[in-house]
Order: sequence, then C-alpha cells, then structure tokens
Amino acid sequence: MADLSMFDLTGKKALVTGGAVGIGRACAVALATAGADVAITDIDAKAGRKTAAEIKALGRNSMFISCDVTKKSQVQAMVKAVARRFKRLDIAVNNAGIAILGADESLDQPAWDKVIAVNLTGTFLCAQAEAQQMIRQDPTEGKIINIASMSARIANCNASYDASKAGVVHMTKTLAAEWGRFNINVNCLSPSYVLTPMHASTPVPVRRRIRELTPLGHVERPEDLHGAVVFLASAASNYVTGLDLVVDGGHTLNAWLVPLSMAVPPRVSPKQEVVQMKRDLDTLGIKYDAGGINPTVHPEISDVFKTAFGLKD
Ligand SMILES: NC(=O)c1ccc[n+]([C@@H]2O[C@H](COP(=O)([O-])OP(=O)(O)OC[C@H]3O[C@@H](n4cnc5c(N)ncnc54)[C@H](O)[C@@H]3O)[C@@H](O)[C@H]2O)c1
Repeated sequence: MADLSMFDLTGKKALVTGGAVGIGRACAVALATAGADVAITDIDAKAGRKTAAEIKALGRNSMFISCDVTKKSQVQAMVKAVARRFKRLDIAVNNAGIAILGADESLDQPAWDKVIAVNLTGTFLCAQAEAQQMIRQDPTEGKIINIASMSARIANCNASYDASKAGVVHMTKTLAAEWGRFNINVNCLSPSYVLTPMHASTPVPVRRRIRELTPLGHVERPEDLHGAVVFLASAASNYVTGLDLVVDGGHTLNAWLVPLSMAVPPRVSPKQEVVQMKRDLDTLGIKYDAGGINPTVHPEISDVFKTAFGLKD
C-alpha cells in the first residue's frame, strides 16, 4: 500500500519570498496547511506581517522578515534569520517577481535591468543562500521551488519578463543537476494568468478571453497552485528534480482558432475566481468593484489590454 503521509509537511521549516500577497501568499498558506512552519519574506512589511499572522492562525510558527531579493547581503541575512529561528530550512519557495510592461522597441534599459535583477538574479541569490544552509544542516537535504511562468515557454508578456522566466527554468535545471548530490531537489512551478493583485487591472472582456483560450475554462486562481506546491515541497516529489511543473489549465496547449467552450460548467465560476484576489486586495487596502477589478492597481496592464482589445473607459 502506498504511504500517502509522504505529502505531510508536519515539522518542516519553510520560507517564501514575495510571500506577502498573491501566489507567494497562496504557497505559504498551502505549506502551512500541510503542516510546515513558514517564514514570510517580502519588501512589503505591512502585507507580509498580515500573512505571517494568518499562518500563525493556522497553528504554525511564522515570522516576517523584510528582504529585497536583489540585495545579496539582505538575502544572506534573511536565510540566516530563518534558520536561526526555525533551527533548519527544509523548503524554500522563490516567488518574488515583477513585470514592467512596455513595447520592447522602446523599453528603457533600467526597466530591463530591474526585471532581470528581481526575477532572475534575485531567484539565483535566494537559491544559493538556501542551498548553502541546506548543505550545512544535518541531514543535508531540501526542496527549492522557483516560481517561473508559462512566459518561459511562450511569448506572452515582453522580452525582459519572458527572458527572465526562461532563465529561471533553465537555471533550475542546472542547479538541480549540481545539487542532487546534496539531496536538494530544485524544481519550478509555472502558472498562467493568475488572479493576484497584479491582475486586478485586467478588464472583464480580457478575463472572458482567457477563459475562451483555456481548456479547463476558468482563469487561474492562486489556490489552484496549492496542490502543486505541496507536491514539490514534500517527500512525494523526492525523485523529481529539474522539472518545470506547468499549472495553466491547459492554456499553453491551446492552438485552436475558434474560442473554446465548456461542455459542462467549469469547476470554478467567474465569481469564485476572484475570492482570493479580493482578500489580497483587502489586505493591501485596495478597493475594487463587484468583479474584483480596479484599473488603477496596475494602470499599465489596464492600458495595454484596453488598447489591444479596443476597449473604451
Ligand atoms: N500573476 C500571474 O499571472 C503570474 C503568472 C505567472 C507567474 N507569476 C509569477 O509569480 C510570482 C508572484 O506573482 P504575483 O502575481 O503573486 O505578484 P504580486 O505583485 O501580486 O506579488 C509579488 C510579491 O513580491 C514582492 N516583491 C516584489 N519585488 C520584490 C523584491 N525585490 N524582493 C522581495 N519581494 C519582492 C511584492 O512586494 C509582492 O508582495 C512572480 O514571480 C510572478 O512573475 C505570476
């Protein structure tokens, strides 16, 4: 009989970068629900403290540590602080990431540099510091999960974002090959369009279009990643390394010319899609309409879609 306690994370010690809201927060909640103590680290202290309190309310140990993943000294200090408090580090989710939209023919170099610094260099600096800790501890082992994106394999956002995420996927393979000898698994999780605060500015017709292009028929929610992150964090994935686990409802498989339509209702309704995003927006003190939309959160996302879809204000 299979021993399904392999999914249990009781007693495991974890950290999540960019863990205050959105996908990071969803990963933290999933790990804590599966039994782990989870440190939240972010540049947003207000939201980060709230998420740490939420983890504690689940009956787990937690803390908030301020850390900009682009600063090596802060990353090293953050991992040391987690290991000091938790006595070890078993699981690390490197999730902090940004996109700076803009047409590539006119994108400023500082915008390029910033996206690469957070998404690619930041992920490397975190993975390096986490592996150093995992190698030091007894027994030597650990699970590193880098949040990449479907943008690593399709042209979707812009060059800096897509290239940074493709870099994360390939860097993950290299680190997995190098650190297998320490029993450290390094894998990626690649979501599609996830309704995090980043996407509060996505207009209704665009969400409808995403549904039409997604075989499973609904827009991805942060909680759609719960199962995948627990799998990659747990003993259930002990023989899995260097994987890019795409969790996208089939979105990147789609090559049909006609809009997809569901034969049965999708598992998640449009109303249910935004429940978690609304909670994150409440945490951030951001207002929204009944559909969970506020075009001012990321006005550049709203503008790009309005232009592309010919939408009026
Ligand atoms: N939302 C999506 O559609 C989507 C899809 C695929 C991949 N992703 C990736 O998932 C990750 C999380 O995205 P999200 O949508 O939850 O974003 P978000 O903007 O809602 O949250 C990102 C978090 O990272 C933090 N952060 C930003 N820069 C940081 C830095 N330098 N150091 C530490 N923390 C920093 C922010 O304060 C925020 O709490 C990112 O890597 C993103 O690229 C998002």
